[in-house]
Amino acid sequence: MKHFTSVKDVKDMEALLQTAKAVKQSPFADKNLASNKAMCLIFLNPSLRTRLSTQRAAMNLGLDTVVFDMNQGGWNLEFQDGTVMNVDKPEHVKEAAAVIGQYYDIIGIRAFAHLKNRTEDYAELVIKQFQKYAGVPVISLESPVRHPLQSLTDLITIEEHKTVEKPKIVLSWAPHPKALPQAVANSFLEWMIATGQDITLTHPKGYELDDTFTKNVKVTNDQRAAFEGADFIYTKNWSSYQDYGQVLEKGNDWMVSADKMKLTNNAKFMHCLPVRRNVIVADEVIDSEQSIVIQQAANRVVAAQAVLKTILES
Ligand code: CP
Repeated sequence: MKHFTSVKDVKDMEALLQTAKAVKQSPFADKNLASNKAMCLIFLNPSLRTRLSTQRAAMNLGLDTVVFDMNQGGWNLEFQDGTVMNVDKPEHVKEAAAVIGQYYDIIGIRAFAHLKNRTEDYAELVIKQFQKYAGVPVISLESPVRHPLQSLTDLITIEEHKTVEKPKIVLSWAPHPKALPQAVANSFLEWMIATGQDITLTHPKGYELDDTFTKNVKVTNDQRAAFEGADFIYTKNWSSYQDYGQVLEKGNDWMVSADKMKLTNNAKFMHCLPVRRNVIVADEVIDSEQSIVIQQAANRVVAAQAVLKTILES
């Protein structure tokens, strides 16, 4: 594996899942794998889990890591080609990515959607430009469209907690006061389909996702019907894809409640975090035995370590 920016970068999913299992059992088995190597994690947006879990994963492999909050102390980068750079962006990604690639063996980058221009966001320009110019492996720490480290984590967590061979997995939209990107939802569906899961998507009308991510997914606007018999409820908010970036006046009753969880097959509750309690999910659900959000977050280290180990050994 050269880069890790979507499920398509994974050449052998079974091998990656086996690596994750081995990493979980013996996290320090490869503590010298990356001696004398270093990674730069570039953040254009806030993070708790991605930042800390990826650093911890690197530490377990002997990979030195520097975190660079590019918006605080870095130059404002130009990502478009052919621009006359006479306004507010003093450095082009062509030089910046190439220079960082001279200093580090792996680059991770987080660049969220701006939710203003769908075409621009879905071009994933920041991560693609880094891949083009850095000359070293690039890991997505969440792009405008995908969050593959989260999705691998989610897959590992489902594999660990499933009690039947092919569980019913439901991705349910939930309300949120602010406009959020579609990345986690897109990516979760992409990974579930790529691994042949039984996946149902439920959301209010107006929150349809890009068709690219919903092929072979069962879709319903009836949240209660979707919850019936489910083994996993994964909930996430996203803003409208059609009416791009808008929070529509719909779905305020879509919070995951104990009453709705009673419709399920004693489903496990999942969320990528951070989560707004009593907006996305009721306290009584996230605090219940059915909630595995902390175990899920713990697996962020496992997923990142499996990806880094696979890249380092490639
Ligand atoms: N789930 C996730 O990516 O969390 P952070 O935004 O805190 O990194």
